[in-house]
Amino acid sequence: MDRYNSDDSKKAAGEKAVDYVKDGMVIGLGTGSTAKYFIERLAKRIQEESLDLTAIPTSVASENLAKRLGVKVSNLSEHPAIDLDVDGADEVDPKYNLIKGGGGAHTREKIVASASKEFIVIVDEAKLVNRLGNFPVAVEVIPFAEGYVMKEIEGLGGIAKKRAGFVSDNGNVVLDARFNIVDPIRLEKDMNEIPGVVENGIFAKRRPEKVIVGVGKKTKTLERE
Ligand code: A5P
Repeated sequence: MDRYNSDDSKKAAGEKAVDYVKDGMVIGLGTGSTAKYFIERLAKRIQEESLDLTAIPTSVASENLAKRLGVKVSNLSEHPAIDLDVDGADEVDPKYNLIKGGGGAHTREKIVASASKEFIVIVDEAKLVNRLGNFPVAVEVIPFAEGYVMKEIEGLGGIAKKRAGFVSDNGNVVLDARFNIVDPIRLEKDMNEIPGVVENGIFAKRRPEKVIVGVGKKTKTLERE
């Protein structure tokens, strides 16, 4: 059990991240229940301070939310370089390696994080772990390759299960793979080398510069050296 209500913590972390937004920026909008608080607070700041911001959403859900709240939305073709990306995570280890993809949006999330000068992750305290792997790794796969990729994941020491009834924003299936993760960078690379894999939810190559952790209604900010 969390010591604090995790929804309070998610809200605190999401809202705190808005402090790092400056007028004129191109902002990556993450996906999920924590990113939602960021987007909502961001929309308020835009209104209150008449900020001129352009948002690049990482999912259809975040795009719809942003548009509904009056946030100006664009895409990577118009803005291939992003100033700041703010997104949630499922697990964060002491080196700031992440597991993402609980919502199946990790492919666009990784593209946007990679295109961003600064990447801030917002989480509640329960997401901080000593070692990645309690949470399964989401692997987005072209439907044609599903059976083959499952077999190859087994070859890498994992056990994969198809996420039932789920289709990604890119029209693909997602496998959830359990691993004993010893070397996140290696596993991220090995999985992406399987033909048919679009992207996996380990973020070891593109780690965040900052992690804002919600602790009840307060936050602490961790910065990578
Ligand atoms: C979406 O696919 C994910 O990567 C989310 O960013 C991650 O699962 C965190 O989601 P919550 O903020 O809802 O816990």
